[in-house]
Amino acid sequence: MRPSNVPDTRGLFISFEGIDGGGKSTQMVRLVARLRELGRHVVESAEPGGSRISRRIREVLLDPATPELSPTTEILLYFAARAQNVDELIRPGVASGAIIISDRFTDSTLAYQGSGRGLGEELVRQLDRIACRGVKPDLTLCLDIDLATSAARAKKRDRLEEEPDQFRALVRDAYHRMAAAEPDRFRLIDASGTPDEVEQLVWEAVAPHV
Ligand code: TMP
Repeated sequence: MRPSNVPDTRGLFISFEGIDGGGKSTQMVRLVARLRELGRHVVESAEPGGSRISRRIREVLLDPATPELSPTTEILLYFAARAQNVDELIRPGVASGAIIISDRFTDSTLAYQGSGRGLGEELVRQLDRIACRGVKPDLTLCLDIDLATSAARAKKRDRLEEEPDQFRALVRDAYHRMAAAEPDRFRLIDASGTPDEVEQLVWEAVAPHV
């Protein structure tokens, strides 16, 4: 239950995005802690992951032992995991007035599959309409680092982190286009600084919304 000194606002849906190695997980943990200190009810989600079923789908998606996973199967699995999170975590969370913080959402699929894999924006939008039914982040924080930093920081721990530099470049360009197209919602955060500096930039973007 929310303390009585905290105003009763509608729920808020925030997503984190970015190419691999940008420090998303660290910043999410810090933001969640800060919001909870303010007495806000925070629900965490992750893609692929977040809910029990989505975590099982994640195992299939990111298993390096199955390189034959086709691009079409891959995109459908990402959306299957997302549909479960929308129904189980995000819709009920927003309805109850919580702040939902999701590690990635449809913008990842636009960037990685739509642009990186060349499946195209329209296919991603069609699947989004089926899986998310209008659920979209109110605010997206994209942790932006240059390609060399991304390659150096990303550990070789799953299929996508083994993608070549050209793939990373397509993904990063797609994120930059989203920031230009929707500047109010989609914020590029310079993630080249220290974790404390990046946390400050994240907070400046979030504070007006909470
Ligand atoms: P993570 O390391 O941020 O948990 O993300 C796992 C990988 O999955 C990351 O390389 C990005 C990728 N991914 C996609 O390709 N498409 C998607 O829709 C999502 C959510 C993630």
